[in-house]
Amino acid sequence: MKTAHRQPLLTIVLAAGKGTRMKSEMPKVLHQVGGLPMVGHVLKTATASGSTNTAIVVGPGMTNVSDAATKLNPSAGVYVQTQQLGTGDAVLAARDAIASHEGDVLVMFGDTPLIRPETVARLVGALDGGAEVAVLGFHAKDPTGYGRLITDGLVSDGVANLLSIREQKDATTAERQIDFCNSGVIAFRTKDLLGCLNRIGANNASGEYYLTDVISIMRADGRRAVAVAGLEVEMLGVNSRAHLAEAEGVFQRRARDAAMAGGATLIDPATVWFSHDTVIGRDVLIEPNVFFGPGVSIGNDVTIHANSHLTGAIVEDSAELGPFARLRPGARIGKNAKIGNFVEVKNATFEPGAKANHLAYIGDARVGSKANIGAGTIFCNYDGYFKHKTDIGAGAFIGSNSSLVAPVKIGDGAMIGSGSVITKDVAADSLALARPVQESREGWAGKFRAMMTKKKASAAK
Ligand code: UD1
Ligand code: MG
Repeated sequence: MKTAHRQPLLTIVLAAGKGTRMKSEMPKVLHQVGGLPMVGHVLKTATASGSTNTAIVVGPGMTNVSDAATKLNPSAGVYVQTQQLGTGDAVLAARDAIASHEGDVLVMFGDTPLIRPETVARLVGALDGGAEVAVLGFHAKDPTGYGRLITDGLVSDGVANLLSIREQKDATTAERQIDFCNSGVIAFRTKDLLGCLNRIGANNASGEYYLTDVISIMRADGRRAVAVAGLEVEMLGVNSRAHLAEAEGVFQRRARDAAMAGGATLIDPATVWFSHDTVIGRDVLIEPNVFFGPGVSIGNDVTIHANSHLTGAIVEDSAELGPFARLRPGARIGKNAKIGNFVEVKNATFEPGAKANHLAYIGDARVGSKANIGAGTIFCNYDGYFKHKTDIGAGAFIGSNSSLVAPVKIGDGAMIGSGSVITKDVAADSLALARPVQESREGWAGKFRAMMTKKKASAAK
């Protein structure tokens, strides 16, 4: 990647559009790709490509969008576009940020989550050649719906002279044949950006203020505009649920490639689903149909068997999970620990070498090193009002089908007889049995059978 750009860089992220085509109660840019709202991807890219200031433009009442944005970038300035009059009007909602900024200005769209930081850095770098505006373009297989980049055909070093941008609705049949499209990312290095933006009108098919009109306005002044070509796969602007699924597909392919490049084996990569922040170590084996929700970190040499679902979990080196393991937020699986089939772990730490191999629920707990949780054990952590903690000492053995009613402490090396309902603490190295005492009656079954057989025979006569 190119080093961060020399000039201070203000990035304005447009996120005020309602996204009507999504048919959703939720603002478009909050729809997620890889478990992160699309606008979050854009903010991350802005920072990674050398942005020094960030402004986000939201619609009235879109506090959920501004909250999501400031959570990721607490210093981002929030600007409200009162009416959704188009992208040109949206940029002007951040006029105060532009007026007080000395340096380059970058505009990004909150619905375009796949652009890589190095691509943005290349675009901003293109301003060094003397252009006052640079637009990130791409050659689209199907350009329908995108603004078309009208150039004079002169290209050097992948940079073309840009004359204007024509939106789909306003394009002539001939212009619609152009496959060179606007990604929405535009970089400016100009003294009078606000002056140019203020001249954008709404005399077009949509009656909207198109940011893209700024190109012909600047050209008319004799200012230089260029288009920089990037890869189509990065430029997808999400306008519908189908686009969202497409973006997710691209994100997942990248994540799978990154995991494999980092030294993980994915037996069937297309069936493994990652989040934006999943961390996978080396020599990790991931079997088919594994899902990583947000906040998962996997150490080295871990095996994750098929059909496991992990969210908010830390898994340390050489642990083994699944098949059908479920790790929920706060699960911390120590070195060499084992979480087997149909075992659910929530807010619980397994210390090194601890095991729960079959059919269990472990919530709000510590399981000491090398402790063994038998099949069917339930940690009863919730009384209907509060959650309580269970603490299992090192080397303890919990017999199958036990219920541990929290709060409760099982000492180091203690044993719990199978089928027990444990409501009181158990001291270290002791055995606890909390189940009906077994009663055996010698010969009873034989006598019973003989009596019943006789009864049945006489009834048949
Ligand atoms: C826009 C571009 C088009 C480009 C395409 C790339 C314009 C006029 N058109 O079209 O050239 O090829 O993106 O994906 O710029 N927004 C606001 N306020 C508004 C309108 C939009 O903040 O009043 C925001 C939206 O939230 C969105 C972004 O701007 O994040 C783009 O808006 P959208 O309506 O999706 O524009 P497109 O029709 O996709
Ligand atoms: Mg769009």
